[in-house]
Amino acid sequence: MSALTVRRLLIDLGDGFPRHWHGGDPFRSALFDALSMSFPVGEQFFIDSVKKGVAALDAGTRERFADDLKGFVGQEATHRHIHGIFNAQLESQGYTNTWQERAARRIGYIAALDARHQVAITAAYEHYTAILADWLLANEAQMTGVDARLKAMWLWHSVEESEHKSVAFDVYQALGGTPSWRIRWFLRCSFFFFTDLFRQTARNLWHDGELFRLRTLRSCLSFLFGRHGMVPHTIRPWRAYFRRDFHPSQLDSSPLTTAWLSRNGDAFKVVGAT
Ligand SMILES: [Fe+2]
Ligand SMILES: [Fe+2]
Repeated sequence: MSALTVRRLLIDLGDGFPRHWHGGDPFRSALFDALSMSFPVGEQFFIDSVKKGVAALDAGTRERFADDLKGFVGQEATHRHIHGIFNAQLESQGYTNTWQERAARRIGYIAALDARHQVAITAAYEHYTAILADWLLANEAQMTGVDARLKAMWLWHSVEESEHKSVAFDVYQALGGTPSWRIRWFLRCSFFFFTDLFRQTARNLWHDGELFRLRTLRSCLSFLFGRHGMVPHTIRPWRAYFRRDFHPSQLDSSPLTTAWLSRNGDAFKVVGAT
């Protein structure tokens, strides 16, 4: 993998944003809000796990991962920071983040496990973020009507998730993690990811009085199964993770990331560049 670039996003969320910022659509706003609510605690766990995994390697292999680790930590820490600002706005709008409490509790339960487990869990969630990122980058129509600042935030995050998708996976393999444990953790993480996403999205919609409305159901169905829908575009890469010889680099997303970066150079500043 080439060296990972850390970028500071040049957006100001100080003015806040409307409750239904996702093109006025309550369902889409609630779902993206739910994802954002999981990021600060989740991405801190990914950082800690990959650091712990790299620390458990022998000195020579550890050296091989030095650049990847630095880039991975830099990118995820920047994501946490901006989503923390975004989430503070959600809190001021009255939304309650219960996903982060559940995630923090589970992270506590597994804290004493061998690093390979934590890195396998990170690799599993990184597969989710990578395939969702590729889908969003390939289907920007999903962001129609979104405020330019927020559109830039989600797509910049998507680009960097695509860029660093192999890091946790490679550390897991370097630690001697087996495909069967990797797949086992993917199944468990899938259960938690979908139930957490469902619960937090439903809670956000309930708060808005939008949970049991026909327009919510309609938006949900088109979001999942429509022309640019999540399910038809992610089912194949999702299934690929179950192959024993799978590696994230087999899903080439570089044309998508390169295209977004070249079109949006004014949206970010490379950290460390003069
Ligand atoms: Fe991230
Ligand atoms: Fe990530």
